[in-house]
Amino acid sequence: MTILVTGSNRGLGLELVREGLKRGHSIIATFRTMSQDLEILKEEYGNNLDLQVMDVADYASVKDAFGILAAKYDAIDCIINNAAVLYETKQFKGDPIVDLDLEAFYRTVQVNTFGPIHVLKKFMPLLYNGHDRCIVNITTEGVRMKSEGSHYIAYACSKSALNMYSQKIRNYLQSHEDTKNIRLFMIHPGRMFTVMGVENAQIQPNEPAIGIWDIVENKIEIKLDLPFINYKGEAMPYI
Ligand SMILES: NC(=O)c1ccc[n+]([C@@H]2O[C@H](COP(=O)([O-])OP(=O)(O)OC[C@H]3O[C@@H](n4cnc5c(N)ncnc54)[C@H](OP(=O)(O)O)[C@@H]3O)[C@@H](O)[C@H]2O)c1
Repeated sequence: MTILVTGSNRGLGLELVREGLKRGHSIIATFRTMSQDLEILKEEYGNNLDLQVMDVADYASVKDAFGILAAKYDAIDCIINNAAVLYETKQFKGDPIVDLDLEAFYRTVQVNTFGPIHVLKKFMPLLYNGHDRCIVNITTEGVRMKSEGSHYIAYACSKSALNMYSQKIRNYLQSHEDTKNIRLFMIHPGRMFTVMGVENAQIQPNEPAIGIWDIVENKIEIKLDLPFINYKGEAMPYI
């Protein structure tokens, strides 16, 4: 399979790239900042790894990346929207209404919600040409409505909007004969030891990377009307 991963220079994105390469796939690793880890993988895997700059928050950058990649690829089989930001901390002691950092909120939505929207708007024509097609939007358990506490407001709102967007486009894909076999998943990857996950971490990011690949490769079959799941393929609560 040919798979595009966003935010691939570190954290879960990097582990998804590493695991996909190990399994023999052709990976288009997109990133905002180059990393030594990606350079090392490039040396090891050569042509199976295509490295491409793409800032998902910036639609011009997504269009530029598409221009370069569309000249090389006729089809992409799976897109994994992984790139995201979390600017908030549990240590915030202010009033989350009046002391809200608006700039950070705007930026969070720009990356976490508009990022996947930008990527799919531009790259979907290549995915339509793919085989065994799927879209993975990495989301979070934090979208659950019955949530406690007031921390991570911008992050939770940005991912809730991503979930709703995901379900809406899934409804559209399901309603057309030629696209209804495109699988779409909203996946909570678990609380990982990454830069983002530092306040809550429980697992290493290679563990969900393996689970997510098993889902992409159809080793774990998901039969849910609302495919909001964890990396083991189990349904996640959203109310
Ligand atoms: N960590 C957790 O416990 C946890 C829990 C639930 C869900 N998640 C989700 O899992 C996914 C991966 O998170 P992580 O823990 O691996 O976080 P991370 O270590 O902070 O990595 C985030 C990645 O996103 C990239 N990124 C940020 N803004 C970008 C942009 N505008 N364009 C392109 N790339 C951008 C970062 O690149 P730079 O190096 O350039 O900043 C980095 O590669 C995210 O969707 C996150 O919301 C994580």
